[in-house]
This record gives sequence, C-alpha cells and structure tokens, in this order.
Amino acid sequence: MSWTAKNSAAAEIDRREKPYLTQAMRDTLTRELLPRYETMMACTLPALHMVQHAYGWVPPQAMTEIAQFLKLKPAEVLDTASFYEEYALTPQGRHRIAICRSVACEFCGHEKVTQAVKDALGIDVGETTDDGAFTLIELECLGSCGTAPAMLVDETLHENVRPERVARILDDARGDWTEPPAPAGGHPSPG
Ligand code: FES
Repeated sequence: MSWTAKNSAAAEIDRREKPYLTQAMRDTLTRELLPRYETMMACTLPALHMVQHAYGWVPPQAMTEIAQFLKLKPAEVLDTASFYEEYALTPQGRHRIAICRSVACEFCGHEKVTQAVKDALGIDVGETTDDGAFTLIELECLGSCGTAPAMLVDETLHENVRPERVARILDDARGDWTEPPAPAGGHPSPG
C-alpha cells in the first residue's frame, strides 16, 4: 500500500458572498471568549461550535473565515474540526441521531440500539435519510456512562435507551408523536 498525498491547498471550495462567521459571532468571540484564553488558537473550538450550532454543519468557507479571524492557517482549523466527530463537515439532516459507541454503552448493548435506528430509518451510520430528516452517527462517550446506552437526538440526551424505545424517540424528534390514550383504569407505562 502506498500513501497518496492529497493536494488540499489547491482544493476549490464553494463560496457564498455572505460570511458564515457573522458579525454577531465575531463580536461574541472578541468580547466574551478571546479574553478568557491565552492564545487565539484556543478559541477554535468555540468558534466551530458557533458555526455548527447556527448552520448544522461547518462549511469549508466557515473554516477559512475562522482561520482568518483567529490568525491561524486554514489547515489548523480543518485539523481541529476533523479530529472531533461532533463537528459535521458535510450538510446534515434536520435531526442528528448520535449514538455512543464507547465502552459502557458497548457493554450495555449500543449495537442493538444502532441497529434499531438503522432499521427504522433505512440508513447506515454516517448517512442521511432521503427526505433530509435524519442523519445517523456514532460518537465516543457522551458522559452518561451510568445510564448507558445513551444517545443524543439533536441536543437532547436519551438515557437507558432500549431498542424498543427507538421508534418513539424518532417520532418524537419528527414532532409527530402523540401520547396514546391511557387505558381505562390506568396510565400507559413509560416507554
Ligand atoms: S460510554 Fe456511553 S456515555 Fe459513556
């Protein structure tokens, strides 16, 4: 096997006139975040977070704008963004399903949860449904090991997830979940 060098420096990126790193973001970085850190580079993560939060992913143009703003090389921003799987470098579905695959969740059956999501959505990890509603990814520890398996749907953490709960979680995210009527003489059991 041989290594093939990719000429990223000459890569063309889609550009739009309006900057992704808005003036409001620049102001927040300047006034609130940069004073907290010794180096401008330390603000790379918060800047990437801002962009990801606003657009659902981090477009290449946004990385060049962050680099320019923080006086870094674009490659340094790309290295950081591509290291963390939380940052999406391609457009995502309207809802992002992120299942933890680290050790506690692995012991507690995350694979069955992932399979249930794959079956329900008809996509594999890393893919987006045709209607653009969902993207499925796997991440490392979500910090919820005591209630594994855990998954994030957008910014909502779901704990102790069982495969049979997946359909309801997805419907909930779509916004079309309606609570079934309580059976006579009692309430439905939690899902
Ligand atoms: S290992 Fe899954 S939340 Fe920590």
